[in-house]
Amino acid sequence: MPSIVFASPKGGAGKSTSAVVLACELARRGAAVTIIDADPNRPVSAWARRPGRPEGLEVIADVTEETVIDAIEGAAARVPFVIVDLEGTASLTVAYAISRADLVVIPSQGSQLDAAEAAKAIRLIRQQEKAFARRIPHAVLFTRTSAAIRPRTLQHIRSEFDAHGVPALQTQMHEREAFRAIFSFGGTVDGLNPGQVSGLEGAVRNARAFAAEVVAMLRPAQPSGIPAESMA
Ligand SMILES: Nc1ncnc2c1ncn2[C@@H]1O[C@H](COP(=O)(O)OP(=O)(O)OP(=O)(O)O)[C@@H](O)[C@H]1O
Ligand SMILES: [Mg+2]
Repeated sequence: MPSIVFASPKGGAGKSTSAVVLACELARRGAAVTIIDADPNRPVSAWARRPGRPEGLEVIADVTEETVIDAIEGAAARVPFVIVDLEGTASLTVAYAISRADLVVIPSQGSQLDAAEAAKAIRLIRQQEKAFARRIPHAVLFTRTSAAIRPRTLQHIRSEFDAHGVPALQTQMHEREAFRAIFSFGGTVDGLNPGQVSGLEGAVRNARAFAAEVVAMLRPAQPSGIPAESMA
């Protein structure tokens, strides 16, 4: 079943945060999810040791460049969603994980310097597409953006990606206290205490929209020529 790989050579781009938020939201909808924690710093495993990890969400750690492909394929044979969190550098582990992805999400904060780092990830994906002679769906995810304002720079960067044929998710991961708090308190955004964390409702809505858009991207394209009503 599909594997969703979070990749960017930029440290701190929002890979682990977005990966955990997506996994929790899929688990909340009732799906079994495996996160493969392929970052040697093991941020997702540290989160999973805290209380509140959803039922049906397992974390596999101790993954190395020798084992990452087997780990992805083994999990994909068992569960409907596999999510891979990678370290913020270029490595063989990163290249192998991308080679097995059904969707690569490239988190990027909305600055030109961050966009240049995202472009490196996209070049690597395109190399892997050539090496494995298959299309590897991918999209940029803007992270830590403001929920209140839409800066010109972000719109400019989005249009530059667009001009180079690089899709970006409509949903952004806004800068939210809740997305930091789950790594302190453990568990999911839904499980946080509104008395302790501000802006919770907005974070929950953001998580729902993000997961819905990712799931829609994973659906195989409907065959053309078939009337929509007969697809129901
Ligand atoms: N949407 C968000 N809202 C608020 N804080 C965020 C958000 N996304 C990430 N952060 C914060 O930014 C920092 C980096 O995020 P994160 O660890 O997810 O990035 P990363 O790409 O996994 O980094 P690395 O390359 O080091 O693995 C963390 O302190 C995290 O709490
Ligand atoms: Mg990380």
